[in-house]
Amino acid sequence: MTLLLNVEDHRRRARRVLPRLVFDYVDGGAEDERCMRRNRDALEALPLVPECLRDTRTVDIGIELFGRRWHAPFAIAPIGLAGLVRPRADALLASAAQAAGVPFILSTASNTRLEDVRDAAPDALLWMQLYVMGERAIAERIVRRARAARFEALVLTVDVPVSGLRERDLRHGFRVPMRLTPGTLLDMARHPAWLLRLARGGMPQFANLLPDDDGAPVSAQTQAALLSRAMDRSLTWDSLGWLRKLWDGPLLVKGLLGAQDAKRAVRYGADAIVVSNHGGRQLDAAPASIAALPAMVEAVDGRIPVLVDGGMRRGSDVVKALALGARAALVGRAPIYGLASGGEQGALSVLQLLAQETERTMTLLGATHTRELGPRHVDQPEIRSPTEQEHAAAQLKENTHGKPSIYPVHATA
Ligand code: FNR
Repeated sequence: MTLLLNVEDHRRRARRVLPRLVFDYVDGGAEDERCMRRNRDALEALPLVPECLRDTRTVDIGIELFGRRWHAPFAIAPIGLAGLVRPRADALLASAAQAAGVPFILSTASNTRLEDVRDAAPDALLWMQLYVMGERAIAERIVRRARAARFEALVLTVDVPVSGLRERDLRHGFRVPMRLTPGTLLDMARHPAWLLRLARGGMPQFANLLPDDDGAPVSAQTQAALLSRAMDRSLTWDSLGWLRKLWDGPLLVKGLLGAQDAKRAVRYGADAIVVSNHGGRQLDAAPASIAALPAMVEAVDGRIPVLVDGGMRRGSDVVKALALGARAALVGRAPIYGLASGGEQGALSVLQLLAQETERTMTLLGATHTRELGPRHVDQPEIRSPTEQEHAAAQLKENTHGKPSIYPVHATA
């Protein structure tokens, strides 16, 4: 029995148990996958600085957002087509999130109907992610249904005006229309447990777009648009007003990386933003989201919460995000690796591992509450916002009574 001690262990197991086509769909990024690597590299390069001799008998890793308490400072990010990994994946993830006391964000491109996800996890904190495709009436219907099913927040994803070029998928013939190569078919045959589950569960469909009791069937064109992620390119900041009329709960905008966009989000009435490069699956030249975070936090200037995702594989990554001003992080691939390696229990075990690592990291830092985490816990001036750097420099000057220090700014601030 292999020990599954961390997310990477789950990832390795996922690689073994999934056909390559499916593993690569989850694991891959756009083009040369530089952005995806940048996410990891930037997190790994960011040291945390502990404060010692503090009373850490109790450490609270929970947060509060929109009037709800999360047991850990992260949520499960929306993942489309998770049903390829396991039938009923979305319901299993929602149920794992419920057990862990963290939110689950359901993708528009999920393979389980949003109502069925609610039934599977009646007490879960569920949020709905929205893709707006050509026919706006479809988005309107999803929003109405999400509200009826007690989804608590709406997350508009804005970094997909067109799909990023996922070359791993193209090599496997995984596109519209699907073209399975003999190699891929052989690969599937070599994973009989996965194949058997797929045979029992049926080919995953875009369940939210299937005709429901009172709705008209969604056109094949829209289904294809979702698979190829061809979104409505006429969507602009003004469209937030359109959504506002349909949705009175918290409205988040996911996929921003620039400070001007962060300011626009505030101006156009978003309740929070998610700093994200879609896990490196869209613009390959995009910055690491953790590197973009400080300037975004500074731009919104405390007016709305900032969340961040991209490359989070350890609790310490989540702590780094919080220290740089994020209210919470989202984890995308990590729980999917868990789902692949052990179903709902595997996904839950990934969430628990991340929570334990978060708690241990905070204890080592001497932080007893997520609120206490701040830029002083991060030792990397170039990733801080300009104001923080100025502040650090001023503090250094004060500490050294204006005399030049032998230490670089980041070592003392
Ligand atoms: C995604 N992501 C995503 N985002 C979104 O808003 N709607 C979606 O349907 C999807 N689908 C999706 C599928 C797969 C397989 C992946 C890996 C990602 C992006 C996701 O929500 C999140 O931004 C990233 O996954 C975060 O990076 P990590 O944690 O996966 O490194």
